[in-house]
Formats: sequence, structure tokens, C-alpha cells
Amino acid sequence: MATGPDVVTASLTDTRSAELYRRALEVIPGGVNSPVRAMQAIGRDPVFVERGAGAELVDVDGNRYVDYVCSWGPLIHGHAHPDVLAAVCDAAARGTSFGAPTPGEVELATEVTRRMATVDMLRMTSSGTEATMTALRLARAATGRERVVKFAGAYHGHVDGLLAQAGSGLATQGLPSSPGVPASAAAATTVVAWNDPDALLAATTAGEPVAAIVAEPLPANMGVVAPRDGFLELLRERADATGALLVFDEVISGFRVARGGAQELMGVEADLTIIGKILGGGLPAGAVGGRAELLRMLAPSGDVYQAGTLSGNPLAVAAGLATLALLDEHAYMRLATATERLAAGLREAAATAGGYPVQVASLPGLLTVFFSERPVANLADARACDLRAHAAWCRELLSRGVYAPPSQFEAWFPSLAHTPEHVERTLDAATAAFASVGRMREEVGAG
Ligand SMILES: Cc1ncc(COP(=O)(O)O)c(C=O)c1O
Repeated sequence: MATGPDVVTASLTDTRSAELYRRALEVIPGGVNSPVRAMQAIGRDPVFVERGAGAELVDVDGNRYVDYVCSWGPLIHGHAHPDVLAAVCDAAARGTSFGAPTPGEVELATEVTRRMATVDMLRMTSSGTEATMTALRLARAATGRERVVKFAGAYHGHVDGLLAQAGSGLATQGLPSSPGVPASAAAATTVVAWNDPDALLAATTAGEPVAAIVAEPLPANMGVVAPRDGFLELLRERADATGALLVFDEVISGFRVARGGAQELMGVEADLTIIGKILGGGLPAGAVGGRAELLRMLAPSGDVYQAGTLSGNPLAVAAGLATLALLDEHAYMRLATATERLAAGLREAAATAGGYPVQVASLPGLLTVFFSERPVANLADARACDLRAHAAWCRELLSRGVYAPPSQFEAWFPSLAHTPEHVERTLDAATAAFASVGRMREEVGAG
């Protein structure tokens, strides 16, 4: 069970979620198969989900929520979209996996190359983590170098060498890295503060030559922290100047912030692109893409080894194709408008409820509410926020039927299934939640 001063489990002990959690703790470490799901950062126990439809979730106790986690990004059309379901069912009826190529893989790879200007070819994996591993191996093979530069607060999956000062679950749990990472893997990584040109210059000028500069071009794993003007261009410039490859991790931003991802939105091109989430439409999929001469280094056309029993799985490919087919220019306009309305409404809600100091950072299809008096530009700023107030606010939201990411080191994922009515319902709940957190703050202050 959750522990600590913010625990609000007393009224939840008789629920089916609580019972499942008790059983889960016996057989699954921490009761969950991925750490942030445990909701420890907001001081409560997890909600077990029964089903989802569109923008809504229903838990095993029958509580309904407007869902802003949406499986952490893949569900850009919400839960159980009929087209995606039909595509998956059709594919499943023909067989779930063959370990041999299928037509859908060619279609999906072609569709991605149409959308992402820097992707001539791609190799599929079953997760973003695997795609990152492949990208690093390719970059090292292509450059004959080992050192990798990454940014504090970025998360690229649970890859040994990239866990140092990672965002997402590590930042949520306050872990600087992880036991079990070999010293050699950590030593081959240089961590640079995001949005810090001097630190980037220093890291790419001195020391071992760099194989790759790896970045989330629009970071969303320390919360949403956009690059300052010129910072992505500097990444490109430093890669070119030093002979390193620029690797953009678009696992979150890909097909979300724009049809062609962050590279289209920001106008900066990567040598290799890591893709995931929306690519599999809610089923397990990832990919690494890039220039043909780099991708052709992969076995069997080259000698850089990479493989996967379920890579390019027909169900994931079908879900990905159906998901992308629905993502036209109109869809991107709708998603951007819904996100802007939500972001503006959350700012208003904080102001209405007593001027609680928050910064709402948003990009099309992504946002984070930072409990901070000043804008957040990097991981240190994100850590300096009032995380207790954020936690209390998230608990209040949950109790009012809004399922927000249970950590400030994550993004909200509004989807195309979120209607104006969902947004208004969310804003009503948010206003009440801000007011409630404000009262708690006053009580603590008064006490
Ligand atoms: C930017 C980014 N890269 C990589 C990953 C790892 O992807 P996966 O969880 O599919 O291994 C994530 C996961 O959240 C991510 O947000």
C-alpha cells in the first residue's frame, strides 16, 4: 500500500482495486508492470482498469474517468476506436504472428516514410526501448565511436546507458540512475542540462569523440519542456561539427505534434529517428528510421545485428496503419485546438481558484501543469516545483473523475476522442481541485 504523508487510502481499502492491488503486490514487483502506474508519486494506490471507450475509462469499481493518460500516448484516437478494433480483429483472424514478413509491414514502413521526411527506411521493434537500443548500436557502428550525449530529464526507455538523470519513472521516483547499470555503460554517456547551450558545447568539444547526440526534440518526460529558440538548431550544428549523428527520439512526439512529428513542427532534421507509441496504435511497436545508407547497415543487408521474434507483429502493424489512416491535417488541427482550449482553461482554473501558481506548458497533443511560479526550462526547474501540491491536485482530480498522469514528470495526452464536453468537465473538476489544494495550503500555512 502507498505510504507517506499524503496517503489517502483509508476510504479506498474496500474497493476491488484495493483487493487486486493487494494480490498484485504478492506476485508482481510493486504490484505493477511499469513503475508510474503504481501512483506512488501522488501518494495513493493504483486504479485497476476494467475498460475504456473513447476518452473515458471505467475502473473495476465502476468509477468513470476522463482519461488523459491514454496508455501514455499511443491512443491518439482514444480507447477502442472502431476502425482500429476492426483492423486488429481482421488481422488476428488471419493469424497473430508468423515470424515471416507480411504485406502490412511494407505498407506501414511506406506510410511512415511518406510522413517523416528524414526517414527513407525503417526497422520495426516491439517497443521504444528496443528502438533506442538499435539506434545507439547503429550510431556507434556508423561512427566507430562509443560516447553518447543525452539530456537530463529525457527518457529513452530503460536502456542501460541512457538511464542517468532520466525523466519519466526515474524522475518520478527521484532515482539518479539504476543499480545494475554497468559502469562502462554509464561512462559512455555524457548528460547535459536541457536548454543549456554552454553545457552542450562543452560536452561536444572536450572528451572522447561523440557517436550520437540523443534528444527528445520536444521533451515530455520531465513534463513538457520545449526547446528554447535555436537549441535544436544547435544540436544539429554540434552533430555536424563533430561528426556525431543526431538521433531524435520521437516516441512521444512522432505523429502527435504534427503529421511528420517534431521534425516537421520545428524544422530541424535528425539522422536517425526513434519511433513508437502511435506507430502501434495501442499494440506493442517501435521502430528506428533514417537515411537509407544508415539503415542498410542493419542485418541482413549489413552486419549490425538486430532482431525480434514479434517485430513487425501483424496485429500491431494493423493497429498502426488504421491509426495513421485517421490522422489527416484536419485531425491535427482538431487536436491542437482541443489542447489549446484545455491548456488555457487550466490556467484560468488555477487563477479562478485563488491564483494557485502554476505554469501550463503545452504543445499540440501534449501538456503539463507545473506547480511553479516561473516557467520550467529543464529538469532542475521541474524538480523544484511544488510536487506535494501537484500530488494533492491529482488525487483531487481522480476523485472528481479525471485521470491525469500521476506524476508531474509526465505529459497529459489529450486525444481526438476528447470532445469539448470532456474538456469542460475536466476544467470544472480542475477548478474545484485547485480550490481544494489551495484550502489545504492555507490550513497548513495557518497550522
Ligand atoms: C520519449 C520516449 N522514448 C522511449 C520510450 C520507451 O518506449 P517503450 O516504453 O515503448 O519502451 C518512451 C516511453 O515512454 C518515451 O517516452
